[in-house]
Amino acid sequence: MPQKMQLEIQNLTQRYGKDKVALDNLSLTLKPGIIGLLGPNGAGKSSLMRILSSISKPTQGTVLWQGDDIIKNPNQLRKELGYLPQSFGVYENLTAKEFLLYLASLKGLPSKAAAIKVDELIEMVNLTDAAKVALKGYSGGMKQRVGIAQALLNDPKLLIVDEPTVGLDPEERARFRHLLSDMSGERVIILSTHIVSDVESIADQIAIMNAGKLLAFDTPEALLKKMNKAVWHAVVDHDEVKVLRQQYCISHSARRSDGFHISIVCHEQPLPGAVNIEPTLEDVFLFHTHSKSQAMESA
Ligand SMILES: Nc1ncnc2c1ncn2[C@@H]1O[C@H](COP(=O)(O)OP(=O)(O)O)[C@@H](O)[C@H]1O
Ligand SMILES: [Mg+2]
Repeated sequence: MPQKMQLEIQNLTQRYGKDKVALDNLSLTLKPGIIGLLGPNGAGKSSLMRILSSISKPTQGTVLWQGDDIIKNPNQLRKELGYLPQSFGVYENLTAKEFLLYLASLKGLPSKAAAIKVDELIEMVNLTDAAKVALKGYSGGMKQRVGIAQALLNDPKLLIVDEPTVGLDPEERARFRHLLSDMSGERVIILSTHIVSDVESIADQIAIMNAGKLLAFDTPEALLKKMNKAVWHAVVDHDEVKVLRQQYCISHSARRSDGFHISIVCHEQPLPGAVNIEPTLEDVFLFHTHSKSQAMESA
């Protein structure tokens, strides 16, 4: 009987040297759909993704892909994996088509099937017009699309993309989001980012991590619902902003003619006159990763 398509991450710990704990006993079960892995720089996202891609081994813990332990036996996973690492080097003198054919051959695709697949992917990532241009002439966004095409060569059941939108302009970001949501379906897609807007419109589920720990994991709707009545709007002066920052998670602040318009994330009314507003995912993310709120939660 085929095992359920899921990735089970169990008690993963990754240490670097003696003192650095990049992943701290992290557990998470991922099912088909788009999972946004959201965390500030240094949260441990790339460390986690390297383990899930079987590029590195954790200090402790287990990962099961469709029931198989990928640390002991990575071969099945590797066959079904597409991975776009955070820094993705390309062979500058090859054209997109040559580069993809080269990788297809390394991945063992028969040449006829490879030629068809490569043309299909080039069209899918919208590089048909540039397919015969050497990669050194590509923009950051174009190179990133080549990166995503290479990750799809084997029609992966598990697709892992690590900060794919870094260096992309807003239009390229939007295009990338559409591309990912078009190919979701019967695969597990994990996308890491530190930018909320990269995932809020396309992710089925969002995992928020910081300092190697998983802080929240749920659908965007459920994450927002939990923050209902916990985001406050107030208009204050400059000195008040400074004082409030010491005490609260200020998720937004904008200078206007009548003072600073701020959003405060807090379960009780933080100051007289503050009124409840609809939470955004940015509020949720900042609340979870904000050092003061963590201190409050564990106090
Ligand atoms: N090879 C490494 N050796 C030592 N420390 C590392 C190494 N890789 C990452 N780190 C540290 O581990 C933490 C998590 O890093 P990383 O997984 O790259 O986070 P993210 O991708 O969320 O930015 C950071 O403090 C980083 O400096
Ligand atoms: Mg990273």
